Amino acid sequence: MPRRRLSDKIRQARAVEWGILLDTQYTVNTYATCAQATAEQLAESILPSVVIRGQQFVFRAVYASQLSNDERDLIWNLTEGNMADMSAASSMGWASGPKKRELFHAQSRFIVAYNAIGFVGFTMFRFDVEDDGDVLYCYEAQIEEGMRGLGVGKQLLEFLVPIGKRWGMDCIMLTVLKVNAGASRFYKANGFKLDEYSPDEPECDYEILSMPLKQ
Ligand SMILES: CC(C)(COP(=O)(O)OP(=O)(O)OC[C@H]1O[C@@H](n2cnc3c(N)ncnc32)[C@H](O)[C@@H]1OP(=O)(O)O)[C@@H](O)C(=O)NCCC(=O)NCCS
Repeated sequence: MPRRRLSDKIRQARAVEWGILLDTQYTVNTYATCAQATAEQLAESILPSVVIRGQQFVFRAVYASQLSNDERDLIWNLTEGNMADMSAASSMGWASGPKKRELFHAQSRFIVAYNAIGFVGFTMFRFDVEDDGDVLYCYEAQIEEGMRGLGVGKQLLEFLVPIGKRWGMDCIMLTVLKVNAGASRFYKANGFKLDEYSPDEPECDYEILSMPLKQ
């Protein structure tokens, strides 16, 4: 889901202070080394292959620009199929053009999962500047319908922890629609808690979850 924070003003003020060029909606921590993290370096923090419940899965860490056209199509179709209707009915809205730009932004990093048959799912994340620290922001976690409940989503989230720690991030953060109760339970079952910046207003239809990476 798109990144959501309340404190855009503070974030922008800090970016100006640091001389960071803001990319309209999505801020990239250009001054920090994490922005230079190569796909090869990201791959060092994950396992290339994992057996989960007797089935072998292969994982690939890549930048958006390193995805093949087929992978882009698979990622887009899965995201659109899972999220378009739900997002369109929410305050997030859904517009294919901006969503594609967000998903395949130059700073988007992917961990893509495959089994022996093919594409299973992915997570997309970025290293983002926040007013209270540096954040590995998980924009998407999407698994093909027939492959859910096998532990692949959990494995993808687990890979984000060593990546975030290696690159000095304070926490992993994500946004989830309240109506997506299954995903919210999934994240909470896997170590995420309601973030202090998550809006309190009951009419707000999303929540911000986070997992600290530093004590
Ligand atoms: C949410 C999603 C990524 C989870 O991936 P997954 O591979 O199905 O989840 P896993 O099998 O790894 O589940 C890991 C744990 O979370 C729990 N969990 C998973 N989905 C859950 C759900 N809908 N409700 C409650 N718990 C859930 C599982 O019980 C499991 O716990 P266990 O290890 O104790 O058995 C996947 O269901 C999906 O792609 N959903 C549709 C897209 C979506 O909504 N993405 C999130 C956008 S914010």
